[in-house]
Amino acid sequence: MGHRCCGKRKCAGVSSNASSQQLLEHNLVGTINVLEYCKRNKAGFILLSTSRVYSIAPLITLPLAVENNAYGPRLDSCSVVGLSKTGVAESFSTAPPVSLYGATKLASELLAVEYGEAFGLPIWINRCGVLAGAGQFAQPDQGIFAFWINSYLRRRPLRYIGFDGRGYQVRDCLHPRDVAALVWKQIQSPDRQVERVQNVAGGVDSAMSLAQLSEWCAGRFGKHVIGRDSGSRTYDVPWMVLDSTRAKEQWDWQPTLSREQILEEIALHAEAHPEWLEISSSR
Ligand SMILES: NC(=O)c1ccc[n+]([C@@H]2O[C@H](COP(=O)([O-])OP(=O)(O)OC[C@H]3O[C@@H](n4cnc5c(N)ncnc54)[C@H](O)[C@@H]3O)[C@@H](O)[C@H]2O)c1
Repeated sequence: MGHRCCGKRKCAGVSSNASSQQLLEHNLVGTINVLEYCKRNKAGFILLSTSRVYSIAPLITLPLAVENNAYGPRLDSCSVVGLSKTGVAESFSTAPPVSLYGATKLASELLAVEYGEAFGLPIWINRCGVLAGAGQFAQPDQGIFAFWINSYLRRRPLRYIGFDGRGYQVRDCLHPRDVAALVWKQIQSPDRQVERVQNVAGGVDSAMSLAQLSEWCAGRFGKHVIGRDSGSRTYDVPWMVLDSTRAKEQWDWQPTLSREQILEEIALHAEAHPEWLEISSSR
């Protein structure tokens, strides 16, 4: 597996502007602090984990086909445990490398389950895909959908990075309100005897490529030329769609807000807040 570091870009905690130590302190030590709090107070713990816990090697070597300006896995020519046409399931490999960011989350998952067992705490782990909605910071690492729509509307320079610069890379999206609905169910059912770990994502119905997102923006806002960047982002994967079948079966949960509703909500918010990019990108 070959990967190049892109230097300045923030890539799952490996870039020059993000300290690896800070990442560990925030994501992992922060989790330990909260788990200790839960232990002292006999509280339950719900971890919002990430699709980034899944192994990068099988994801970047996945045979892909291009359809409608988007990558999709060629399932006829490969067999990968945990992968189906409904996406990446919980049984997919979590072998390293998963990125430093993913590793802090995977380690947090492990510790959460151990604390639960050792101290009798209810633990639920939700591996989330990309969250998207109005009011989200318009920064790429806070959610590519809000960043893209706000930037497109304001005609800021946008570039397709990596994968031949065509923008065929695919992600699914999920509204935070739908995550909240599941968390609420989990808070109310601390003793439910089901698997503790589940994917929580918009899945195939909500998945789209950056090129398709640009097409949507063009239809909504008019023309804007997207550039191509020959560089790459460390640990970037061409296709990540989570299969949330387990969450559906265990919790009778599924997304209620469609991709179109999410995109439109972000667009309306962006139009109503001309200053949003400046406000939300200052750290
Ligand atoms: N709001 C959120 O959903 C949020 C916030 C923080 C962390 N995360 C975590 O990150 C994970 C998603 O990470 P990921 O790497 O799969 O997807 P991502 O959202 O970081 O990137 C998606 C695609 O957008 C491209 N991209 C990223 N920044 C870009 C930029 N500035 N310009 C052009 N293209 C850009 C990447 O090449 C990638 O292919 C989620 O699973 C989640 O756990 C998500």
